Amino acid sequence: MHRRALGFAVVFVLHILWSGTALAAGAVAAAMPSAMDERVRACTSCHGVQGQGLNNDYFPRIAGKPAEYLFNQLTAFRDGGRTYPPMGYLVAFLPDEYLRKISQYFADLQPPYPNADQSDVTPAVLAAGQRLVQQGDPARKIPACIACHGERMTGQQPGIPGLLGLHASYIAGQMGTWRSGTRHALAPDCMRSIAVKLTDKDITAVSTWLARQPRPSDPRPAPESAKRLPLACGSQPQ
Ligand code: HEC
Ligand code: HEC
Repeated sequence: MHRRALGFAVVFVLHILWSGTALAAGAVAAAMPSAMDERVRACTSCHGVQGQGLNNDYFPRIAGKPAEYLFNQLTAFRDGGRTYPPMGYLVAFLPDEYLRKISQYFADLQPPYPNADQSDVTPAVLAAGQRLVQQGDPARKIPACIACHGERMTGQQPGIPGLLGLHASYIAGQMGTWRSGTRHALAPDCMRSIAVKLTDKDITAVSTWLARQPRPSDPRPAPESAKRLPLACGSQPQ
């Protein structure tokens, strides 16, 4: 998005979030949306009408991810654990209590997924991606992604997000921010330990493979597993 246009979008969105009365009189729909529906309109220009993510773009799907995961991200944008200025401005002065409500709102939605990525990738790259996601690489002490993100890759309660419905550019971008140290999850930050072991080639492979997977028939995150995770993660009580 053009910088200036983004600036306008953010100012507009702040106005909606803080004014409390989100809708101009003319825009009131026949069926009255709830106060929360109105407030989260601020989010839909980038995340899709129900937080489903947009086609062919970087913006991540947020709908249906565990509420605790979403809350951890909103506080990270607010408190500096993640850096993306438009998100940071939006949540800068919002109290935990309100961020929890927004998180629960999106966690409860299960809208259809955006289109899977279709970019040209060689079968060898996809096979390498699938191997890392499903088996990891024991020689390099890289655990399988599904050991934490779930067999169906729809995440795990309470703090692990699903990996489907995200674009390759977003997944690769996040692995990059973990490697460079600009994204921090609750300590111990297991994703950082994993990301620093991945090469650029690994990241291309996992992100392109994940972004092409069919959409799950049951998109809900798995319940918290009694199985020990291969690495401790601060967001996952064990
Ligand atoms: C100007 C566009 C824009 C707006 C408006 C916006 N977001 Fe975001 N949001 C993004 C982008 C881009 C990212 C990914 C940033 C990054 O690279 O870390 C993001 C990330 C997130 C994440 C983390 C997603 C994940 O899977 O880790 C959450 C949660 C989120 N946004 C919630 C919201 C909510 C709630 C609102 C409304 C109050 C909102 N966003 C408004 C662009 C936007
Ligand atoms: C030891 C458990 C564990 C393993 C193994 C693991 N992850 Fe994660 N992953 C997490 C946790 C916990 C989070 C949430 C971190 C946070 O709160 O920001 C996460 C978050 C992510 C995110 C951010 C999603 C978003 O919406 O922003 C991506 C992308 C990701 N993992 C990819 C991977 C890939 C690819 C692999 C395999 C190479 C992998 N993970 C292996 C625990 C794990």
